[in-house]
Amino acid sequence: MTKKKYYQLTEIFTPSQPANYTFVERTTINKRLKRALNTLGKQIIIYGYSGAGKTTLLTNKLKEEKIDSITTRCMSGMTLADIVKDAFNQLEVYYVSQKDLTKGGKLGGSLSASYFGVKASLSSELNENDKVSTKKAVELPITPQTLAKFIGESSKLWVLEDYHKVRAEDKVLLAQIMKVFMDSSVDYPKLKIVAIGAVNTAREVIQFDSEMKNRISEIEVPLMDNESLQEILTSGEKYLNITFPEIILNKIVAYSSGLPAVTHQLALLVCESNKIFSTNKDSRPTKIDVKSFDEALDEYLEENSDTFKSVFETATRIIHKRKNENPTDILNAILISNKENITFHEVKENFILNDKNYKGNNLKKYLDELTTTNRAEIIRFNKDSNTYYFSNPFIKAYCQCAIRNNVKTEFNPSKLLKEFRNTLNNELEIARKAFLRDFEE
Ligand SMILES: Nc1ncnc2c1ncn2[C@@H]1O[C@H](COP(=O)(O)OP(=O)(O)OP(=O)(O)O)[C@@H](O)[C@H]1O
Ligand SMILES: [Mg+2]
Repeated sequence: MTKKKYYQLTEIFTPSQPANYTFVERTTINKRLKRALNTLGKQIIIYGYSGAGKTTLLTNKLKEEKIDSITTRCMSGMTLADIVKDAFNQLEVYYVSQKDLTKGGKLGGSLSASYFGVKASLSSELNENDKVSTKKAVELPITPQTLAKFIGESSKLWVLEDYHKVRAEDKVLLAQIMKVFMDSSVDYPKLKIVAIGAVNTAREVIQFDSEMKNRISEIEVPLMDNESLQEILTSGEKYLNITFPEIILNKIVAYSSGLPAVTHQLALLVCESNKIFSTNKDSRPTKIDVKSFDEALDEYLEENSDTFKSVFETATRIIHKRKNENPTDILNAILISNKENITFHEVKENFILNDKNYKGNNLKKYLDELTTTNRAEIIRFNKDSNTYYFSNPFIKAYCQCAIRNNVKTEFNPSKLLKEFRNTLNNELEIARKAFLRDFEE
């Protein structure tokens, strides 16, 4: 492959697109995904925290393996019929309704004939007074078998993004469709569904159909380790012919908390504030100014304040009022410990400080709820140390300010911004120190 010499900044740091040039191989899951893609009849579930790199991983592997796909993005409120229709619309399947056929049986007939032949007949439809009329196939009753055949004929695989948003009753049906897809792989070797979703996605599919256990490959995309995050930056340096000072590299990695999206966004902003918009053409790399980081950080906060706000609101929304275990109470109980990582028992102790008789029978359930997409994944759980922690220092600082000021819905940026910045500086310093500590170990 011939390599380009000059790149646009936005091709290199891609906070809201799958990474291409700066794509970092994730060695262990990489192999498993490749094997699953090439195993006949194997259906795939890719799951992990939002922003951990699921879409990027799949996009890059599909490109590498030269596999074509159609993607349906599931949205809450979509029914199974909507999802199936979306796939059909992308396949551009046409169907000739029988009663309109003038030249008996020439069109239609077998499924593959109707799939390819009918598309070709579209041009003749424009001619004279030919009575053949075509309809998008979605107007037909569709069974899982016909769906498998249509997608199979197209030689593409079907990607379902945001699978966790599918309604529970539709998940049962989707699990059945997956099963039909497995069986149809005899006729169509490339046919498969790749479902991408939040952390609990995998368990959900299998619970509907235990038979499928061995025929589904569940691939967890974990948060990115610091070394890989650093690799995004060093590869960006090469493409753009620039060098980041060590301290900026460390800060970006530390503040990212395992999320490559934050790495890309901060790097992009640092470059912008240094007026780097494409590859530097000098023979020597441009040195990035250490001081430019603060400006980039300000920009980052401005751009993301709506996101922080919406995460906080989703996390603390009251669905059923609880006596003293509302989400805000739990977040507060985590915060008052003033620790990065906190165990279940420590959270419980903090509740007991307020109420000696507190039993906390449901506390574990509520804490775990805060790690789900229903609560914007505001808290994460570390399986190795059995501790809970905020998903990133930005959200933690926002949360501290909002709770301290008893903000219900309005977080007035101008009034609280200063306080937020101070709190944030504190949190970022803690994150940076933790990073350096890890680094030394
Ligand atoms: N392996 C990688 N190498 C370099 N950058 C990556 C990698 N994986 C992800 N990124 C970057 O991280 C960001 C998030 O990635 P991606 O959209 O793939 O995550 P996701 O898990 O699909 O997120 P969501 O759950 O929100 O759909 C993007 O900016 C992408 O460019
Ligand atoms: Mg994605």
